[in-house]
Amino acid sequence: MKQIYLDYAATTPVVKEVYDEMKDYFLKNYGNTSSLHILGQNADEKVEKVREKIKQKLNAKDHKVIFTSGGTESNNLAIKGLVYANKEKKHIIISKIEHDCILKTAKFLEKQGYEVTYLNVDKEGFIDLKQLEKSIKKETILVSIMHANNEIGTLQNLKEIGKICKEKKVLFHTDACQSFTKEKIDLEEFNIDLITINAHKIYGPKGIGALVIKNGIKLTPLLHGGGHEYGFRSGTLNVPAIIGFGKAIDVISKEDIKKMIDLRNYMIKEILKKIPTSKLNGPTENRLCNNLNFLFNYIEGESILLQLDMEGICISTGSACSSNTLETNHVANAIGIPKDKANGIIRISLGIETTKEETDIFIEKLIKIVKRLTDMSPLTK
Ligand SMILES: Cc1ncc(COP(=O)(O)O)c(C=O)c1O
Repeated sequence: MKQIYLDYAATTPVVKEVYDEMKDYFLKNYGNTSSLHILGQNADEKVEKVREKIKQKLNAKDHKVIFTSGGTESNNLAIKGLVYANKEKKHIIISKIEHDCILKTAKFLEKQGYEVTYLNVDKEGFIDLKQLEKSIKKETILVSIMHANNEIGTLQNLKEIGKICKEKKVLFHTDACQSFTKEKIDLEEFNIDLITINAHKIYGPKGIGALVIKNGIKLTPLLHGGGHEYGFRSGTLNVPAIIGFGKAIDVISKEDIKKMIDLRNYMIKEILKKIPTSKLNGPTENRLCNNLNFLFNYIEGESILLQLDMEGICISTGSACSSNTLETNHVANAIGIPKDKANGIIRISLGIETTKEETDIFIEKLIKIVKRLTDMSPLTK
C-alpha cells in the first residue's frame, strides 16, 4: 500500500539534497568547531556560514544566532533565559494558543512567582491587538506570540505586534517553527527581538533549531559548560545537523508555496461541500499555506485518524506532541469549541511533495469514513 503522508506540520522527511550535504560531516569532516586544528576549523567555518545564511533569510541585521536542540529548547531559553537574567521585571504576555513548550514554561514560571497574561484569541485564532496594548505594564519584560499556529494555521500580524512592543519598550519574541521559510519574516521590519526556528519542519533533520536574539539582550543560559554559542548554550555543536539546517532553508520554493495554497483551498472547498457535518477551524485569510483543520460533528477525530491510518494515510488529531495525552485541546478551547465537540477535530498538513491525486484519494476515503462513523454514532440517533 502506498503511504500518503499529510502530517507535515508534525515533521517532514529530510530531502535528498539535505541528506547528501550532511553526510560528509558525519564521515569525513567530523571536527569539533572548538578545535584549533584544520578539521575543527573547517567545521567552524561551515557553521558560521549557516549562521550568516539564517541571518540573511530573516533580515537579521543586529542579531546573534544561537544553535539549540530545536524549537522546544529555543522557546525555553527565550523565556526562562530572559526572565532569569532580568530579575527586576516579573511579568510576561503570551497568547492562549501558544505551543505547549511556551505555555508550560509560562506555567512553570508562575509557580516561581512570575505573572503571566494569557491573551484571548477570536474564533479564527487571532489575538486582539488592543488587549495586547492594554496588557503591557511597567513590570512587563516580554511579549511572546507565535507566528503560525501549529494546529489551526492562524498567522498573527507580527508587524503590528512588533510596533506595539517597540512603542511600549518591551521585548518581542515569536515562535516561528511552523512559518519559517514559508512566510515572510523580517526581523528589522517587524521589530522582532527574539525568534525561534527549527529544521525538522522544513525538510531538515530533527534535533536542531536556533534562537536568534538581538545583540545586547541578556539571557541566563539553561545549559552551563564550555561557553559555546556566545555563552548562551554550552555543548559541542551538532555540526551535521547545523549543515542540514542550512541546506533546508532553500528547500521550499515560491512555487511550492503557491501549489500548497491551491491544494489547500481545493481541499477546503471539497470537504465542506461533500461532508455536511464538517466545519473548518481557523481563518480563511492569513492562514499558513499548508494547514487544514476540520471539526466533524458527532464523531471522534481519533477514530478518523485510525481508520485513515489503516488505509495508509497519515494525519493528526491535535498537535502531534500532545495527541498521546488526554488533556483537552487548549487551542480548540481558546477558539470557543465546546469540550464535547473538540474530540471531533483533525489536522491535515500538506508538503512540497503532496499531489492533487493524493488529496483526491484522501478526500474520497475521508468521505466514506466520516459517513460510516456518523451512521454508527449514538449522537445522531
Ligand atoms: C509552533 C511550534 N513550536 C515549537 C515546536 C517544538 O519544536 P521541536 O520539535 O523542534 O522541539 C513545534 C513542533 O511541534 C511547533 O509546531
